[in-house]
Amino acid sequence: MGESVVLLGEDSYTRVMGVLENKARARLFYKYLSKVYDRINPFIWNEEMRAEALEMLDISEGDRVLDVGCGTGFGTEGLLEHTRDVHGLDQSPHQLEHAWRKFGKHGDVRFYFGDAECLPFAENTFDVVWSSGSIEYWPDPIAALRECKRITKPGGEVLIVGPNHPNSTVAGALADAMMLFYDESEADRMFAAAGFEEVTHRTMGPSYSPEIAITTVARVPGDDGGDEDGGEEKGRREGNEREATAAQ
Ligand SMILES: C[S@@+](CC[C@H](N)C(=O)[O-])C[C@H]1O[C@@H](n2cnc3c(N)ncnc32)[C@H](O)[C@@H]1O
Repeated sequence: MGESVVLLGEDSYTRVMGVLENKARARLFYKYLSKVYDRINPFIWNEEMRAEALEMLDISEGDRVLDVGCGTGFGTEGLLEHTRDVHGLDQSPHQLEHAWRKFGKHGDVRFYFGDAECLPFAENTFDVVWSSGSIEYWPDPIAALRECKRITKPGGEVLIVGPNHPNSTVAGALADAMMLFYDESEADRMFAAAGFEEVTHRTMGPSYSPEIAITTVARVPGDDGGDEDGGEEKGRREGNEREATAAQ
C-alpha cells in the first residue's frame, strides 16, 4: 500500500498514492527497466503518438526546450526535430547513461541529473517544457507542475503526457495501486492548482489501446498574470540553483 497524500485548503483532496509514486522506488525501478526500456517503450508510447503530441505544441527553431523525466531520450529525439536548443533532466542515473550513449555526454543536448519537483533552473529559462511518461511517478505532481510553470517564460507552453485512467473498475484499482493515472477533469484540477491557463487535452495511444495516454498542453500566464507566489518562489529558486547538479 502506498502513502496517502492530503492537500488542504481550496485544493482539498485525499488519495492513496501508488507504490511507484516515490522517488527512491522509481529510481530503483529504472535501474532495472533502463536495460530494456527502449525495446519495451514502443508498445505503449510510440513515434506516432510522439508526433501527435509534438503537433499540439508551437515550437520554433531556436526555442529553448526542457524535457523533464527525459529517460533514455525518446521525447528528446522528437524535440530535436523542431529546435536544436534541447535540455533533458532525469532523476535516474541509469536512464541518463542510456541518453548519453545516444546523444553524447558533451553533444548538442545538455543533460541534468535532477528532480521534477525541484528544477535546477532560474525562472523564465525555457520557451517550452515537455514531459512524457514521467508525471505518474511524481509524488507531488502539482508541485512539479508549478516548477514547470516557474521555469517557463510567460506565455510559454508546458506539455505533459501521462497515463489515462482506465474505465474498468478492476483495471482502475490496479492502476491506482501502481502510480498516478488520471482523466481530463483531474488534469484540469492539477493544472489549475499549479496556476496554468488555456488547458487542452488529447487522448492517444497505439492501435490496440487508442486512449492509453492523456496529453495536456497548458499555457503559462502572461506578464499580466502576476506572480502570486512572490518571495516564496524566489527563495526556492535560489535554493534550487545552489543545489543544481549539471550532469556533464
Ligand atoms: C516512462 S519514462 C519516460 C522517459 C521519456 N520521457 C520517454 O518519453 O520515453 C519515465 C522517466 O521519468 C523519470 N522520473 C521519474 N520521477 C522523476 C522525478 N521526480 N524527476 C525527474 N525524473 C523522474 C524516470 O527516471 C524515467 O526515466
